[in-house]
Amino acid sequence: MARMHKPIYEHRLRVLVAQIVPCLRAGDRVLDVGCGNGTLGAALLAAPLGCPAGVVVEGLERVVRGGEPIKVHAYDGKVMPLEDKSVDVVIVADVLHHEEQPDRLLRECARVSRRLVIIKDHRISGALSKWRVSLMDWAANAPYGVPCLFRYNTLAQWRGEPAKFNATIEHELTSMDLYPGLWNPVFGKDLQYMVFWRTDKAENA
Ligand SMILES: C[S@@+](CC[C@H](N)C(=O)[O-])C[C@H]1O[C@@H](n2cnc3c(N)ncnc32)[C@H](O)[C@@H]1O
Repeated sequence: MARMHKPIYEHRLRVLVAQIVPCLRAGDRVLDVGCGNGTLGAALLAAPLGCPAGVVVEGLERVVRGGEPIKVHAYDGKVMPLEDKSVDVVIVADVLHHEEQPDRLLRECARVSRRLVIIKDHRISGALSKWRVSLMDWAANAPYGVPCLFRYNTLAQWRGEPAKFNATIEHELTSMDLYPGLWNPVFGKDLQYMVFWRTDKAENA
């Protein structure tokens, strides 16, 4: 199973890196919440087009695996052991649909972020899309023991989220070519969602 997932996972990583790196600034402190095995953080630092100088990426995990390529901090999954506005950028990639209380997690992400919260997740628009996302979610996570809740937001639900946390949408992707080859039309495209929230707008206003 791991051998089949590898090219799909590597393609996904390249797409996420290409989206995230242009949003980083020199010296940024980046927190990857629910970083899993830490490969996204390491891939950002090794980005082919160059990560800005002095960027530091650390992870925060409810279930720390051990042996990650970035520094990972364990916590209870509820209250982050960080001061308000203590990191520049928070990334939360394919984590929220695994969380029983996604709004509690988003509130914590927005609280600790000085500038950006970057969310990558799924979106559904009907029963068939929910079935496709659920199948993909199960196939990608069950072999690694990550529990699935099979709950996903619609686009309207995603667009209602930032106002709850005093954040604003800087830009969003409502369709993503996340996977290679034929995996993409079946499980990529409009089943994928990525959004960049500004958390400093109130300060700038
Ligand atoms: C599908 S994996 C995604 C891993 C990684 N973000 C990536 O993109 O490869 C979901 C991860 O979210 C973690 N997770 C779920 N709820 C969490 C929470 N409240 N705080 C931190 N991590 C959480 C799980 O332990 C799991 O490692």
